[in-house]
Amino acid sequence: MKFVIANDHAAVELKETLKVWLESRGHEVNDLGVGTGGKADYPDKAKEACMTYLAGGYDYGIVCCGTGIGISISANKVKGIRCALPQNAFAAAMAKEHNDCQFIAFGGRIEYPDTPVEMLKRFLEAEYGGTDRHLRRVGKIMGIEEE
Ligand code: RB5
Repeated sequence: MKFVIANDHAAVELKETLKVWLESRGHEVNDLGVGTGGKADYPDKAKEACMTYLAGGYDYGIVCCGTGIGISISANKVKGIRCALPQNAFAAAMAKEHNDCQFIAFGGRIEYPDTPVEMLKRFLEAEYGGTDRHLRRVGKIMGIEEE
């Protein structure tokens, strides 16, 4: 699969960990930075990652900042993007099964009960339920963008 990943300066190490793990599993990763020593405002990196994803050719997007909060809020402002900020591996799986998220966010300064790699793994293994109620609810989320 093909991923786009972006981060600010507070999540360089976490981004590297996720990227190395994805690549070790044969996935392609377009790393938009920032790298070691770089600095960025998280809304800029979120926007860049989302616009790159929406241009096509990607399966998923990953965005990381210190808490994951600012960059996930920013990603969710981009029309068409549903970005999860999971608390643990269960929530990561639900982000796919119930919410059909294409983006997932993590915080480089957060101590999670499950590692971000485990959360990402569960997110990727999960499948969108796509049953009536989830279709209806995800449709309502997207409908808010039109109001
Ligand atoms: C950067 O210092 C920090 O504010 C940012 O990474 C993030 O945690 C914001 O939500």
